[in-house]
Amino acid sequence: VKPIYILSIESSCDDTAAAVLENGKVLSNVVAQQAIHEQYGGVVPELASRAHQQNIVPVIDVALTKANIRRDQLSAIAFTQGPGLMGSLLVGSSFAKSMALALNVPLIAVNHMQAHILAHFIDEEGFDKPQFPFLAMTISGGHTQIVTVKDFFDMEIIGETTDDAVGEAFDKSAKILGLPYPGGPLVDKYAQLGNPKAFPFTKPKVPGMDFSFSGLKTQILYFVQKNVALNPDFVKENMNDICASIQYTIINILMDKLKLAVKETGINQVAIGGGVSANSGIRNTLKEAEKKYGWKTFIPKFEYTTDNAAMIGIVGYQKYLQHMFNDASVTSKARIEL
Ligand code: KG4
Ligand code: ZN
Repeated sequence: VKPIYILSIESSCDDTAAAVLENGKVLSNVVAQQAIHEQYGGVVPELASRAHQQNIVPVIDVALTKANIRRDQLSAIAFTQGPGLMGSLLVGSSFAKSMALALNVPLIAVNHMQAHILAHFIDEEGFDKPQFPFLAMTISGGHTQIVTVKDFFDMEIIGETTDDAVGEAFDKSAKILGLPYPGGPLVDKYAQLGNPKAFPFTKPKVPGMDFSFSGLKTQILYFVQKNVALNPDFVKENMNDICASIQYTIINILMDKLKLAVKETGINQVAIGGGVSANSGIRNTLKEAEKKYGWKTFIPKFEYTTDNAAMIGIVGYQKYLQHMFNDASVTSKARIEL
C-alpha cells in the first residue's frame, strides 16, 4: 500500500508549527516559538499574527526538508481550525487552503483540543495507545477539561474550568513572583528544589468535576503581599518553597477531580494532554497513580505536550482514513466545540 503523507500546520496561538507524518509516524515536527511576547507578559494577538506570517513559509520548508518529502508526494494538508486567536488561525488556514488547492490534494480542518487528546495515537516507540473509552484531562494555557473519549471523534466534556485555565494559574502565579512569561515551566523548575508543604494554600470548593483557579491566584497574591510587607526579600529567599507549594496545590486540585471522574465513569484509563502536561510534578503524580489506584495512565512525549503540529497531523491522518475532508469554504473558529 502507498504510504499516506500528511503535512500539518498549527498556528492557533503564538507558536508557528509544521509537521510531516507518514501514516501515524512523525517524520518531522518543527516549531518556531515567538520570543516577542515575553516583554509584554503575555501573548499580543496582533504581534502573533505578524510573526506567523513571517515564520510560516520557512517552518513548512524545514518540516518538508527534515522529513525528506517533496510537496508532490503529500496526500493531504491538515491545519488547526480552532479554538485560538482569530488572526493567528487565519494565517495557518489561508496557507493550508492555498497549498491544498495548488497541489490538488484534500484539505483537513482539525480541532486543536481534540488534537491535544489524540496526540496519544502518534506511533512512538515505548508509548502505548489508549483504548476507547478513556478519560482525557486537557490542561493548557487556554483550557482545563476532563473529557470522556468514546471514539476518535466522539468526545464528551464532563468537567471544565469555570474561570481561569490551569496554565493561566501557573503563569499568573509566576507573574506575582516576578517571573517572566510564560512562567509555568519556571514554577516547575523551582518547585523541583522546594518543599511542597512549606506554605499551605487552600483548594477551592467547586461542585462536580468542574474547576476554578481564580481564587487560588488571589490567595497567592495576598500571601505574597503580606509577606513582602514584612520582608522585602521574602520571594527571593523562598522561591523554591513557594513554587513547590503552588504546584502541589494545583496538582491536588487536578487529581481530586480526576479521581472523581474515574469513580463516576468507571473508566480507569487516564490520559493527559496540553502544555501543562509537560509539568514534572503532574507527570510523576500520574505515574504514581498507576500503582496507587490501579489506573493505566498515558503521559505524552514531552514534545507533544505544548502546542505542536504533530498532534494536528495525527488527527489529519485519522480524518484522511475516514474521508473527513473540508472544502475551501471552511472557516477558522476562535471558539469551537469538542
Ligand atoms: O498547550 P499550550 O502550549 O498552549 C495552549 O494551547 O494554551 O499550553 C501553554 C501553557 C502555558 O500556560 C505554560 O505556562 C504551560 O502550558 N506550561 C507549563 C509547563 N510547560 C508549559 N505549566 C507548568 N509546568 C510546565 N512544565
Ligand atoms: Zn494548546
